[in-house]
Amino acid sequence: QFYTPYTLVELILNDKLPIKDETNHNVKILDPACGSGIFLVESYKRLIRRWKNKNPKKIITFKELNDILVANIFGIEIDPLAIKVTAFSLYLALVEHLNPKKLWIDKTNKFPYLIDNPKDASIKGKEGKNLWCRDTIGEVNPDDFEKVNLVVGNPPFGTKKLSKSIMDYCVKYNFGKEMVLPFLHKSVDFCPDGNIALIFNAKVLTNTEKPFQNFRKWLLNENYVEKVYNLSIFRKIPKNFGGQLFTSAVGPICIAYFQKNPPQKTSDTIEYWAPKTYVKSNLIDGVLIDSTDIKFLPRIECQLPDTKIWKIAMWGNIADFHLISKLSKIHSNVKSFIKERKMSFGVGLQPLNKSTIKPIVDNDISNLKFIRPERISKYFTPDTSFSDINSAIKDKETIAEYLKYYKKNNIFDLPQINVFRRLGKKEVYKGPMLLVKEGFKDNEFCASLVNTSVAYNSTVLGIHSEQLEDLRILSSMLNSKLAAYYLLMISSSWGIERERIKPNEVYTLPLQFSEPDFKDLVSLHEQIEDTININPLIIRDANNEKNIEKIILRSFHLSQRDICLIEDFLCQSIDIFYKKEKSIAFHRVSADENMIYAKMLHQELNDFYSEANHKVNITVYDVQRHDPLNLVVLHFCNTEKSIDVKPTNELSSLLKELDKYSIQEKGKNLYVQK
Ligand SMILES: C[S@@+](CC[C@H](N)C(=O)[O-])C[C@H]1O[C@@H](n2cnc3c(N)ncnc32)[C@H](O)[C@@H]1O
Repeated sequence: QFYTPYTLVELILNDKLPIKDETNHNVKILDPACGSGIFLVESYKRLIRRWKNKNPKKIITFKELNDILVANIFGIEIDPLAIKVTAFSLYLALVEHLNPKKLWIDKTNKFPYLIDNPKDASIKGKEGKNLWCRDTIGEVNPDDFEKVNLVVGNPPFGTKKLSKSIMDYCVKYNFGKEMVLPFLHKSVDFCPDGNIALIFNAKVLTNTEKPFQNFRKWLLNENYVEKVYNLSIFRKIPKNFGGQLFTSAVGPICIAYFQKNPPQKTSDTIEYWAPKTYVKSNLIDGVLIDSTDIKFLPRIECQLPDTKIWKIAMWGNIADFHLISKLSKIHSNVKSFIKERKMSFGVGLQPLNKSTIKPIVDNDISNLKFIRPERISKYFTPDTSFSDINSAIKDKETIAEYLKYYKKNNIFDLPQINVFRRLGKKEVYKGPMLLVKEGFKDNEFCASLVNTSVAYNSTVLGIHSEQLEDLRILSSMLNSKLAAYYLLMISSSWGIERERIKPNEVYTLPLQFSEPDFKDLVSLHEQIEDTININPLIIRDANNEKNIEKIILRSFHLSQRDICLIEDFLCQSIDIFYKKEKSIAFHRVSADENMIYAKMLHQELNDFYSEANHKVNITVYDVQRHDPLNLVVLHFCNTEKSIDVKPTNELSSLLKELDKYSIQEKGKNLYVQK
């Protein structure tokens, strides 16, 4: 069983079933995979509260509690035990609202029958209509079910061990084989005129395969999507965080709010909430959604099934989206370069593991040295970093497989291993080659030139060519900040599921340079190799790396603003992801930075208004360490002046007062920083 963290239930119901000043207690609610009923119980409690809002002077009776429950609360669940827990929890919620509590002992008051389970003979003749013990996808015809006003829940997800009914459903609609999709799709039939708010797997938004695109096409074109929360960051939250509230959390999750028919007032944007981190400070202990994490995405773009906007907008803004789109349109990329130059490429070997069906014996690879991914360094790796082929096996399970295969008891008795699960193409182990790691280290992507043949594992992509110059060009590009920016922004997995960049994402990285740039890059790369060769302890050559960066940025004709976006993403957003509240992004802004900001505003606004007769003047307040907020004030007037700087004196207490309103609680352990 997977329980839904209460934070999520509260978040959804605060939006879709608020209590404050609400009096409508006739809202039919369905959870199509209700588990032990957390959404239903919380919804029921809210309807009771709404009844009380409507009847502030009355005491709610058993009958009224009973009627609200039977008329409005519906669940479907495949597990007979879970559905009994749901019924029991709903009864408890009912009893809790009786006043005096002992009223339930009154013999004339009987709990309503709620469960309908044809397979349970013990409830024959006592079936209810509210909680159906069924396979929602295979056994429930929505026509037989009362139409509801609101669907909420956390349906099962995953791509493994799909039941036949789910499989058939996905095949019928040509959707990706992911359990959650049929639940989202079928909800519309249960709720043709109401609202749907369901939790689903974030990969559904970023998976680039056609069947997932088909699903997105349906979701975003045949329905009206109001809002999406991308809470992939929840998967990073440790178990003991946020007062244990995220204990059962969770993979990379999203929540979609949608409905079949558009509302009266439609918007041409979709609200997208994508918090970047969780924070523990003296103010909060939970997920902090900065107001810049709330984006309004153009609906038309979201409706394109192959759009990358969901991923890009997790970290960046619309300007990043335009920059990535511009880069993606560049004709030449890593793949076309590799093909043009007839290079061999492919990922490395996989050692034996439990699921190996046909072990591959190979003595050529066995005789090679091996390089562990963590020994690969940026730009160039000398062969002093190589080790023995047996260092390809490190973790306990792999060692156990090899001991079994060679019938040995001790790792030291193993021969030079010559058997593997997968080998890939043998020519990619031939030097010289470029090795590209799938992972990131210190916010950087890593590719490395290696001169001699060596084996490596499948987390590394190898590219072999006799033309060293071509490999140097690829290395310069792949090691650049621009590459890190582009690859992290478009990767379907990084930041969502596993922090890795897949080879077919690497292939899409654009390449662009002139003949003189080509020569300069090659020469700078050679200088880096020389530095490392002369002294292998020096693993970085900052000067030459900087010059390579410069040429790359120049060759893509990037503007100063584009460069700012790249820097901002790598230094701030990614830093938040890795370092959380310790990130530089949460450091206090200094007086100097405030001034730089004011100057930029001053120039941008006065340029913007240059045609009209407006001028904008700016006052910067010289905030002190103890002031919680910065202050830059804009004045519209007729004559332009230079930037004023004033002391904060009398403003300090106002800033403190304002600060109290800057963090808003959105649900337990979930805050919005305005
Ligand atoms: C993530 S859990 C929901 C948890 C629930 N919100 C809670 O907190 O208890 C998904 C539920 O879907 C149920 N389920 C899985 N496949 C189902 C199906 N085909 N039809 C109905 N329920 C299903 C599982 O038994 C599980 O209880």
